[in-house]
Amino acid sequence: MTSGLSGELKWWQRGVIYQIYPRSFQDDSGDGVGDLRGVTRRLPYVAGLGVEAVWLSPIFTSPMRDFGYDVADYCAIDPLFGTLEDFDALVQEAHRLGLKVMLDYVPNHTSSDHAWFQEALGGKESPRRDWYVWRDPAPDGGPPNNWKSFFGGPAWTFDQASGQYYLHQFLPSQPDLNWRNREVRAAMMDVLRFWMRRGVDGFRVDVIWLLAEDERFLDEPVNPDWQPGHPEHASLLHPYTQDQPETHAYIREMRAVLDEFDDRMMVGEIYLPVEQLLPYAGTPGSPMVHLPFNFHLILLPWNAEQIGAFVDDYDAACRAAGSWPNWVLGNHDQHRFKTRVGAAQSRVAQTLLLTLRGTPTVYYGDEIGMENVPVPFEQMVDPAGLQQPDSPQAGRDPERTPMQWDGSANAGFCPADVTPWLPLAENFREVNVAAQEADPASDLNYFRALTRLRAEHPALVAGEYRRLDAGHADVFAYERGLGPERVVVVLNFGAETRTLPADLQGTTLLRSLGTSEDQTALQPNEARVVRLEA
Ligand code: NOJ
Repeated sequence: MTSGLSGELKWWQRGVIYQIYPRSFQDDSGDGVGDLRGVTRRLPYVAGLGVEAVWLSPIFTSPMRDFGYDVADYCAIDPLFGTLEDFDALVQEAHRLGLKVMLDYVPNHTSSDHAWFQEALGGKESPRRDWYVWRDPAPDGGPPNNWKSFFGGPAWTFDQASGQYYLHQFLPSQPDLNWRNREVRAAMMDVLRFWMRRGVDGFRVDVIWLLAEDERFLDEPVNPDWQPGHPEHASLLHPYTQDQPETHAYIREMRAVLDEFDDRMMVGEIYLPVEQLLPYAGTPGSPMVHLPFNFHLILLPWNAEQIGAFVDDYDAACRAAGSWPNWVLGNHDQHRFKTRVGAAQSRVAQTLLLTLRGTPTVYYGDEIGMENVPVPFEQMVDPAGLQQPDSPQAGRDPERTPMQWDGSANAGFCPADVTPWLPLAENFREVNVAAQEADPASDLNYFRALTRLRAEHPALVAGEYRRLDAGHADVFAYERGLGPERVVVVLNFGAETRTLPADLQGTTLLRSLGTSEDQTALQPNEARVVRLEA
């Protein structure tokens, strides 16, 4: 697979996945929140980016306490976003434009408003009781153990009526489903079938590595590396709530359901080190997720040594495991990468994402260089931020602000007289799609140049990865080779001008900075893509 022509690859290996956070993409109804008709209207723009697939963050019926990651009905569209007919129209238009559609599947927990949980609250005898995870109080009447919620506080909430606690790895209004229960699994498998029958091509699976918990319900050990200011959840290690063997078995069941249909895929949200991450792809005889999300470009310090070493190790590990690599720079839970790595480095990062071996996932707005938007505590809406005032980095509103389409009031996201659900970036009059369309040197046109390069040079999609010696510790260079074609990527992570070794000089296909014709000097923060003549 790895050395084949790009035509032999599947769409989810070949193409770029573009994540849309529907609340923030385009408001069509005029209520200050994005919706499905808005997304459909903007699909030609998305197709024009040269991406392969759109992944929509949750659009299902929800009280929106975690902005849709608290699902009250898995097979209905929340009225805020539109109707099933709007959804069908979106899929039809996407397919007409050659785009695949991926939905966000949230199997670990439902909303407490879900009919299943409401029935479970009926008491210990309720037929749905065992669909969730219940425990008696500890001898002192407190929670059954020390497990913590990702959003701070205990992972257990007391139900007065029955005298038991229920488990929630996120908000109390997001009770964990009990995946050990066969009926739960059967119901959740039918959700996958429901959407695939409606034409959905794939799924991003929310917190897939959290599905099962250890049945002994032992306390989790303290994390010796935790420091005040870090999220409270990280104060413990998680040997009993994450990455359990049963989870692997449940994922195999999901995969079997996907394989009932043609050419579908799933990518799993998994924050784990590579040695625990890659097993989530399963084996050829017993496959699991098609792509286990690799978040390490987000988690690692941004320097050539550490990023280069990681890329070498991960590429080699994927090769050894026979699994397809993938790369992510941003999503709705992580601060904008341009803010994280700094504006000067943002094209180095974008070039890396789109030229490494493996499927890139792009977060909406990153293609125009959207940055974190500071959201003061009074305007904050994200529960992760509101519940953890002592962890200033925990809030996710800054990376979820409205897409900047043009320089008009509210950036073309919603009508001028409406307040958008999150504030717009202050710089939206300069940083927006319309302005960047008109500027050949814009981030947007740089992004398109990168996807065009991928389309024109199969080596960038299907070619092998090989590390090259650029002669400087702050320059990371590698080759993508396929048959006789050799495309070299050189990334200057530093602020010094560097001389390019003679064997890395060739025909320049793309450079991130300026118009200098100098083949030998790499400018500070420059990314360059070069074709070597055979
Ligand atoms: C991971 C999602 O990406 C995040 O946004 C959400 O809050 C949690 N899962 C809970 O569903």
